[in-house]
Amino acid sequence: MLNKQMIVQTLLKERSFTPMVVKAKAFAPSNIALCKYWGKRDETLNLPITGSLSISLGNLGATTTVVPINEASDCIIFNGKVMDKSMPFVQKISNFLDLFRMDQNQNMHYQVETSLNIPMGAGVASSACGFAALVSALDSLYDWQLKPFELSILARLGSGSAARSFWHGFVEWECGIALDGMDSYAKPFPHDWKALRLGLLLIDSNEKSISSRVAMQRTLATSPFFDAWPKTQHEDMILLKKSIEDKDFITFAQTAETNALTLHALMMSARPQIVYSKPETLNMMDKIWQARREGLNVFFTQDAGPNLKLLFLEEDIDAVSRIFPLLKVIAPFNLLDQEC
Ligand code: PMV
Repeated sequence: MLNKQMIVQTLLKERSFTPMVVKAKAFAPSNIALCKYWGKRDETLNLPITGSLSISLGNLGATTTVVPINEASDCIIFNGKVMDKSMPFVQKISNFLDLFRMDQNQNMHYQVETSLNIPMGAGVASSACGFAALVSALDSLYDWQLKPFELSILARLGSGSAARSFWHGFVEWECGIALDGMDSYAKPFPHDWKALRLGLLLIDSNEKSISSRVAMQRTLATSPFFDAWPKTQHEDMILLKKSIEDKDFITFAQTAETNALTLHALMMSARPQIVYSKPETLNMMDKIWQARREGLNVFFTQDAGPNLKLLFLEEDIDAVSRIFPLLKVIAPFNLLDQEC
């Protein structure tokens, strides 16, 4: 059976492990899926059953600095604080770094310093941008000059959605069919939408009750409706791409919302059930639907957590912010003018 180490060895074959700089730094944007990735065809390599499509959050994401250190273990610093080695989060990063400890690099350890400029606990995939920034920083440290699709494959080994965190704007991750996953990587879906706005609606910042890895496994293994998911995904993907090309906001946002609701319905049908929504999540959905009935074009998407991400257009910022005063508004295509 193929394992992660083999994939890394294949991609880095003949690449040098001599650091070319003392310290390497990289940024990767966070991304939110509009057509979700849920269910793996290969658990080890994080290979998805379906394709997915995301929007990156512009300048919001992870900045990671990597420094080789002469120590017996890695040192992980997160938002300025040294993290305890026993934390699962630290172990996850160290296990990922193990993949790069081969041949003459076997005893190499790193100080990895990551800063997130995303509001903490907002349910915005921090592991996606974290792994993407780490892979980019390693690429710079060793001057591997990997191609974007190779970086995407490496980051996928850390977290599936990280495969989509190497670009701004819309990004498509194709599921691929190869057993080694060499055809399962993301690439830009090159369409701008300057007027598009995303709003982060924080409902609960507590750690999620069940990891997306476990939840995906359980949904796939036990939901009686899972067989319908790939077909829905395929249809939503076509609708989403066409609506982006046509700048047809209603179809675009309605498809993203339905895709998220279908995903959560699927999770709820798992045994035992997986319910990420809190009562407040449903209250907020109700507010959104009420606003729509009153003529405001505001929609939402939801990931593996209780928080919502709102979708609307620039012209409706004021109206949406009046209903949701604490909303953090993001302009994904206005990279220099991030705050609205
Ligand atoms: O990459 P993971 O294992 O954190 O899973 C991401 C799952 C969703 O955020 C719910 C969907 C997606 O496509 O990002």
